[in-house]
Amino acid sequence: MAASSSKALLLLVFLLCSPQLFCNAYPAKHSHHRHPRFTSHNYRDALTKSIMFFEGQRSGKLPSNQRITWRKDSGLSDGSAMNVDLVGGYYDAGDNVKFGFPMAFTTTMLSWSVIEFGGLMKGELQNAREAIRWATDYLLKATVHPDTIYVQVGDAKKDHACWERPEDMDTPRSVFKIDKNTPGTEVAAETAAALAAASLVFRKCDPNYSKILARRATRVFEFADKYRGAYSVGLKPYVCPYYCDFSGYQDDLLWAAAWLHKATKSPTYLSYIQANGLTLGADESDYTFGWDNKHVGARILLSKAFLLQNVQPLHDYKSHADSYICSLIPGTPFSTAQFTPGGLLFKMNDSNMQYVTSTAFLLVTYAKYLTSSEKIVNCGGHIITPKKLRTFAQKQVDYLLGDNPLKMSFMVGYGPRYPLRIHHRGSSLPSVAAHPSKIQCSSGFSIMDSQSPNPNILTGAVVGGPDQNDRFPDQRSDYEQSEPATYINAPLVGALAYLAHSFGQL
Ligand SMILES: *[C@@H]1O[C@H](CO)[C@@H](O)[C@H](O)[C@H]1NC(C)=O
Ligand SMILES: *[C@@H]1O[C@H](CO)[C@@H](O)[C@H](O)[C@H]1NC(C)=O
Repeated sequence: MAASSSKALLLLVFLLCSPQLFCNAYPAKHSHHRHPRFTSHNYRDALTKSIMFFEGQRSGKLPSNQRITWRKDSGLSDGSAMNVDLVGGYYDAGDNVKFGFPMAFTTTMLSWSVIEFGGLMKGELQNAREAIRWATDYLLKATVHPDTIYVQVGDAKKDHACWERPEDMDTPRSVFKIDKNTPGTEVAAETAAALAAASLVFRKCDPNYSKILARRATRVFEFADKYRGAYSVGLKPYVCPYYCDFSGYQDDLLWAAAWLHKATKSPTYLSYIQANGLTLGADESDYTFGWDNKHVGARILLSKAFLLQNVQPLHDYKSHADSYICSLIPGTPFSTAQFTPGGLLFKMNDSNMQYVTSTAFLLVTYAKYLTSSEKIVNCGGHIITPKKLRTFAQKQVDYLLGDNPLKMSFMVGYGPRYPLRIHHRGSSLPSVAAHPSKIQCSSGFSIMDSQSPNPNILTGAVVGGPDQNDRFPDQRSDYEQSEPATYINAPLVGALAYLAHSFGQL
């Protein structure tokens, strides 16, 4: 009896101390009260799928628990062009290039999703962490040499000239880097933000990994801040027009400092934000949040420190965040946001859905901060409550999932009707299992141009979405509307976890 109970105690100690196992553990059940309400949507199913999508975007050696099984290993000698190991990471969208700038932003947003709503994710928490680790393992490789970041693998022009499966790739895997002489402040700062945000995700469940990420984030931020310059200048022919940074690097620096402030608690970053915030555009009225411009995200994140931790020097970020909210919510004197006739937030023709998902995430997140601090937003006398923000976010997500004039979901594999011809090489060509012999660079285009549905379901992929009149032609050649991307899904993960929980599905 005594022997077996001490064995049980040992086992318990082992379970609690083993970082890997603790990473697998579900968090304690959330104690706050829930009022299950009616919804026609299965947010939980959408959450599962939104995370699974990342497995379809994996580059490198796939693990044995890979769930999107039509994908196989690819890019196994990535980095060899510069004698560095750059195997792994994610393809950004429907092509086979690894672009560091959007990959880092994706990582930051997946991490923020887990930081805010991971506690509600139950069994999906482990999948979300694995999606983050797939990126951070790569970002650690890309930042292994001080004052250098390998920011891209693959020549986008040559890659785009082929319609090839990643497993068949034979276009040059050119490696592009930034360093002291060819700086890239925006991509370096976003990489620092990603490493810092991810360090918070792993802080409790894998402290060793978390420390490595935080230390690297600190070093990368110093490099970003010290050697100022745009990668869109130094690497222009390779990164433009794909992920050319149009907003400048100021927003990325403020965003990165905000994440380092949160991750390290070092007073250095608070002083940095106080000294440089306005110069870096803290109060600019640019309200589009995505891989290019991080101002709005930085405002919401910094307002948390003021609202929840009472960091007085960040007082103004609540009003900076409020200005964004007032610009967005229809019916206030300051609202400028555009919507389709069917009610979808409309920012741009190309990949508009990324702004829908990032906005939905920011709204449920800001609503959480406001609720905890018992605050509201006042838009020139119009009172905006946290409830209003949540309702707005839910409407946008519901449109994405099928409540729209076309009655279709824009997430592949969710609901009865969804995009069949997404602009994605791997999904559209026969799988390696179905067609083991190589499909050459240009022979793939006959399939790209055909009307046949994609043979491989890229579960959970959210596409660019409808045009400004709610139309969606579902044409493979139409990359603006039919291409999925990692940064469309990343913020949606957090929004769906919130919704699934709030409707009693998790
Ligand atoms: C800490 O993490 C690094 C990187 O994942 C790993 O190489 C190292 O073995 C780990 N150390 C310990 C003590 O777990
Ligand atoms: C977006 O598409 C509409 C309709 O096709 C077009 O009139 C408009 O110029 C496009 N806007 C941009 C910024 O390309």
